[in-house]
Amino acid sequence: MASPLKSLITDSDRYMASFKRYKECSIVYQGMQEFMDNLLPDLLPSIVKGKSQLNVLGVGSGTGDVDLQLFSTLHQNYPHVTVDNEVVEPDPQPLRIYRDLVSQTPGLDYIQFHWNEMTLQEFQKQWKEKKINKKMDLIHMFQVLYYVVDLEGVISFYQSLLNKNGKLLITLASCDSGSVRMREAYKNQLCPGETNPSTGKIKKLLDSKGVSYKSYILPSDLDITDIFTEGDENGEMLLDFLTNSYHFGKTASPELKAGVMKFLRRPDCSVESDGKVTLKINFELLVLDQLI
Ligand SMILES: C[S@@+](CC[C@H](N)C(=O)[O-])C[C@H]1O[C@@H](n2cnc3c(N)ncnc32)[C@H](O)[C@@H]1O
Repeated sequence: MASPLKSLITDSDRYMASFKRYKECSIVYQGMQEFMDNLLPDLLPSIVKGKSQLNVLGVGSGTGDVDLQLFSTLHQNYPHVTVDNEVVEPDPQPLRIYRDLVSQTPGLDYIQFHWNEMTLQEFQKQWKEKKINKKMDLIHMFQVLYYVVDLEGVISFYQSLLNKNGKLLITLASCDSGSVRMREAYKNQLCPGETNPSTGKIKKLLDSKGVSYKSYILPSDLDITDIFTEGDENGEMLLDFLTNSYHFGKTASPELKAGVMKFLRRPDCSVESDGKVTLKINFELLVLDQLI
């Protein structure tokens, strides 16, 4: 029987609300802050060396808050460097929020923005068809490759856009994360076509091709207590984001919903303390260089 579940990504309003709720319950932004404060300043010197302008490509930038955080760190450390920034984002709603954020944020005149309302696959196709030979100093894909089937093709294309000393930054949940374990266990019952990528899969792929990379862990635990309160709307949205399903609570069979919720409580997925259930999630940042 065909699955009654529909991918969350097909409904922009619900996707954005669920992702917002996810960010509010997660320490992911502390993890990203750690990246901005401690890791990025170490990566920048080799990227910026000898340059007065950086070509940057943001893939799946969403509402752009992480992108602007990144530029703020860059600008603090290298105030003389200007930025040419290609933004690739298929959903018009977050893209509009990103554009509004740019127009309302003072002091961004060192950045030139190019808005590409399309998927990363469409961008790739267009780039090849137009035979563009611009090279990038920094490409980032933060929490985006979940929605990609051809990981190998996508990573090798975007890596091929790197300039000498350029870096491709990828973050995804690592395979020991509770969310990844749960999706792996239920992949045949969740939305058809789900590939459940994790950094474990990407590293295996890169290792098999002899592509080198550096890896950093950014702890990103998630408070999922609300999921276990029947009828709690915040819990429902978190469950949607974790299963990547539109209204999972209303459309999944009772057996599937009960199975997923029980799985999330397994000790290898979450910890319970003082009535709070915390899902163990690690984001992993992979840093790739230009292919030689
Ligand atoms: C989890 S959000 C991450 C947003 C942002 N990078 C951040 O870290 O806050 C994933 C983003 O990827 C976008 N996305 C989904 N499928 C995509 C695709 N095929 N190509 C490019 N972006 C995609 C979504 O619209 C969404 O904005």
